[in-house]
This record gives sequence, structure tokens and C-alpha cells, in this order.
Amino acid sequence: LRVNPLRSLILAAAGNDAIRKLVATTPISRDVVRRFVAGETTAEAITVTRTLVDSGLTVTLDYLGEDTTDAELAEQTVQAYLKLLDRLHAENLAERAEVSVKLSAVGQLLDETLALNNASRICAAAEQAGTTVTLDMEDHTTTDSTLRILDELRRTWPWTGAVLQSYLHRTLDDCARLAGSGSRVRLCKGAYAEPEQVAFADKHEIDVGYVRCANALLAGDGYPMFATHDPRLVEILSERAKWHDRKPGSFEFQMLYGIRPDEQLRLAGEGHTVRVYVPYGEQWYGYLMRRLAERPANMAFFLRALASR
Ligand code: FDA
Repeated sequence: LRVNPLRSLILAAAGNDAIRKLVATTPISRDVVRRFVAGETTAEAITVTRTLVDSGLTVTLDYLGEDTTDAELAEQTVQAYLKLLDRLHAENLAERAEVSVKLSAVGQLLDETLALNNASRICAAAEQAGTTVTLDMEDHTTTDSTLRILDELRRTWPWTGAVLQSYLHRTLDDCARLAGSGSRVRLCKGAYAEPEQVAFADKHEIDVGYVRCANALLAGDGYPMFATHDPRLVEILSERAKWHDRKPGSFEFQMLYGIRPDEQLRLAGEGHTVRVYVPYGEQWYGYLMRRLAERPANMAFFLRALASR
């Protein structure tokens, strides 16, 4: 089974300015966005976090934005995270809610040192607030740079987490390297359009890769974070965790805000730590397009909403 051509088409459209303007100015977009995005402000993000935490879930918050080529915008993103971390602490949510950061939103495309410095400021604020940071993983041209920045950050904040993507050929090696004590690795399938030289295109290969990587992480001493909505993978991971004698609490499941909320609660009810990835902010376009590309049903939801206007 090959990856859906619709996926490539939508991901290509994500980079097109005319389509971006059309989607951003279509009134219906707001309703569709609301299904996947907590809101535009810190206050809205905190309200959603409170509701999720009260229902027994944990949270990682993402201030939306990516591919910044302007140092001033990168600074605004840092300020948004500092404000958010301050609020999480003040609202006693820091124990159950951490933050996820895209390095391209804090200057990675401009200068790796700028991104490292900005990410360091976010990590220092997270430490003060009593929580942690996980670095999102973007397209494969940034993987080496992101892992270099991760290594630097972990010298001071060893709890800094990273995302690895099972569709990349390299990821089993990266998992083996990052499976050591104290590491936090969020394993996902991967959401970008990647060339076949670096990534599997076949769904089955991506899934097999996921299980191999999960095994490497579970066999190590780190803290694996399994980010997937795939029911078959969730079942296999639960079984593999038992086989590796991993008790609930020594690894976690993660899902995106608005996707399979009943399953999130079911897993939490079984005693698992379940973390919901909650994006918020005004720069929701790239994030929304990746969600639409992932699943025909998400696209159908978008089109139905358009048709009902
Ligand atoms: P996939 O999309 O293959 O779906 C498998 C099955 O899951 C479906 O057949 C269906 O049964 C079920 N399913 C999926 N969506 C559903 C829905 N809406 N409703 C009901 N069932 C549904 N990517 C990246 O490249 N870099 C990153 O940093 C991150 N970060 C990240 C964090 C977290 C917490 C998550 C959950 C995901 C990411 N991702 C990511 C995205 C990830 O790479 C991937 O694109 C999506 O999670 C979709 O892949 P799945 O594993 O869910 O399976």
C-alpha cells in the first residue's frame, strides 16, 4: 500500500501562498481549526489544558509557528513560551503540562546558534516553572541540526526531549543512541513530504519501523513517549511494554488534541500516562494542513464544513 497521493498534494498545497490566503480567509476555516487547535491566546490554551488535566490527562503545549526567517518573529515566539510557562506555574499546571518547541520557529533557519540560545531560554524558564521541554522534529533537512541542539541542551537540562520519526531510514540508529538513562524520546510516524532517498513511503514499512524503534526505546533506560493514534500500534506497544517489563508510568502514550479523545481517556483509565499535544496561536495553517493530509476523513470533515455554509 503506497502513501496516498492526496497526502502529497495537500502537503504541497501547504507551501503555496495563494492556497494559504484562500484557506486563511474562508470563514469556515475557523470551525475546522477549532477542532484541532485550542485557540489563539495563552488564556485559551490554559483553559483547554485545565479541562484535559481535570479529566486525568497530561498535556504538552505547542505555540504554533514554524519556518521563521525573521529574528524578531523568533523572539516573539520565545516571549510567548516564557509567558505560557509563567502561567502554567501560576495555575499549578506545570506538573501535568510541559511544552513542545519547533526549532524553526525560534530561528533555526537563520542561525543554529540563535536557535540554541532561544531554546536555552525556554528550557531555563521551564526549569523555573517545574516542567520540561520537548523539541518537535521537522523535515529531514533539519534532523541533524535539531539533534545537535538537543545534545547541547541536555548538557544543562538532561530532561530535554526530542521527537524521532519512524518514516526516516536513519531513525532506528537515532533511537539506539537516544535510548540511554534520562532521555525522553517521542516516537511518531512523521508528517512531512519526504524524498524516498531518506524516508519510507510504504505505510507498512513505516509501521514496522515504528515497532522496531519502539523496541529499541523500551529495551533502553530512557522514557519512551509513543505518539500515535493507530489502534494496531497502541495494542502492539502495550504488549511490547509488558514484554520489556515496563510498568505504566515508565513510558507514555501521546495523541493530538481533537483526535481520538475517547481513546485518550480509555488509556488513561487503564492507568497509562496519556499526554495530549495541544497547539495554540495564530499560525495554525501548516499544522492544519498536515492534519488534513494525514487522513481522508479529516479532509472530508473540512469539505463537509465548507459545503454546509
Ligand atoms: P496514521 O495517521 O497512520 O493513522 C493510523 C490509524 O489511526 C488510522 O487508520 C485510524 O485507525 C487511526 N486514526 C488516525 N487519525 C484518526 C482520527 N482523526 N480519528 C480516528 N482514528 C484515527 N510528526 C512530525 O513529523 N514531527 C513531530 O514533531 C510530531 N509530533 C507529534 C506529536 C504527537 C503527540 C503526535 C500524536 C503526533 C506528532 N506528529 C509529529 C505527527 C505524526 O508524525 C503523524 O503524522 C500523526 O500522528 C499521524 O500518524 P498516526 O501514528 O496517528 O497514524
